[in-house]
Amino acid sequence: MKDFLSIDNCSKDYLLELLQLSLDLKKIYKSGGRDTCLTGKSLAMLFEKPSLRTRISFQVAMTNLGGASVYIKPEDVGGIGKREPIKDMARVLNGYVDGIMARTFEHNTVVELAEYANIPVINALTDYSHPCQAMADIQTIKEHFGSIEGKKIAYIGDGNNVARSLAFVCAKLGMQIAIASPENYELDEASIKRANGISSGSTVQLRSPADAVKNADVIYTDTWTSMGQEEEKQKRIDDFAGYQVNSALVSIAPSHVKIMHCLPAYRGLEITDEVVESSSSVIFDEAENRLHFQRALLKNLME
Ligand code: CP
Ligand code: NVA
Repeated sequence: MKDFLSIDNCSKDYLLELLQLSLDLKKIYKSGGRDTCLTGKSLAMLFEKPSLRTRISFQVAMTNLGGASVYIKPEDVGGIGKREPIKDMARVLNGYVDGIMARTFEHNTVVELAEYANIPVINALTDYSHPCQAMADIQTIKEHFGSIEGKKIAYIGDGNNVARSLAFVCAKLGMQIAIASPENYELDEASIKRANGISSGSTVQLRSPADAVKNADVIYTDTWTSMGQEEEKQKRIDDFAGYQVNSALVSIAPSHVKIMHCLPAYRGLEITDEVVESSSSVIFDEAENRLHFQRALLKNLME
């Protein structure tokens, strides 16, 4: 693979190879070892949206591997696709750096960057998907349960970019996801079809959070208002009433259930403070795994 744009374009073997590399590198780094395979290499990091986890973890991952990173805000370059076409930007960066990671609104922006650059392009979240998050999530599930095969995720809330990447990764890796969303916030039909085309029955869309969590190994949620939807915030708070991950909902799930959230979490909205801080929560292990997975991804794509 030259690029990492969407989970559904990756083979199961490739995803498992990345996962294993991430686990191996995590062990090496935790025991004080280093792998400087990207010495002398640079990554351009293009961000149209804010970020804590993605930005810092990619930057640290590049430094860990002996390389460097350059952070680019749209304002710095006169907007993405505004001062100059995306295809020109891709070919210019191609001459300066060894890889590009981009967080954009339109998914097509990362697709176009990848099409015109000869170097690897990584999707660091678009309105469509968040594949690095999904892989760090799977790593977290593997670490906490020992295996991923057959595990069931209950995803409560918005059928958004994070839900879509989770559906694809579940389909690819032999897991199941039950998504519970209010009307008009379901995961789109085409994505559900795509996931179930990869693995039949791997994704189900439900209405009731209680139905979704009753056999779940993991309860997962994300913000009701994604970046770029800020104007809809109040309407979304109203529409998502009853979709909060709180202690009452968690009590319906099996006692071994783990709580996950990609963060940032809006306590009191999609999840309560009590659940975030509970002993079932693996949310901060999940956040840490962003670093481990992306270090593996950078090594795999750029070495
Ligand atoms: N989960 C995640 O991608 O966080 P950031 O938006 O802070 O990068
Ligand atoms: N769905 C959220 C994820 C944030 C990491 C968003 O796109 O804003």
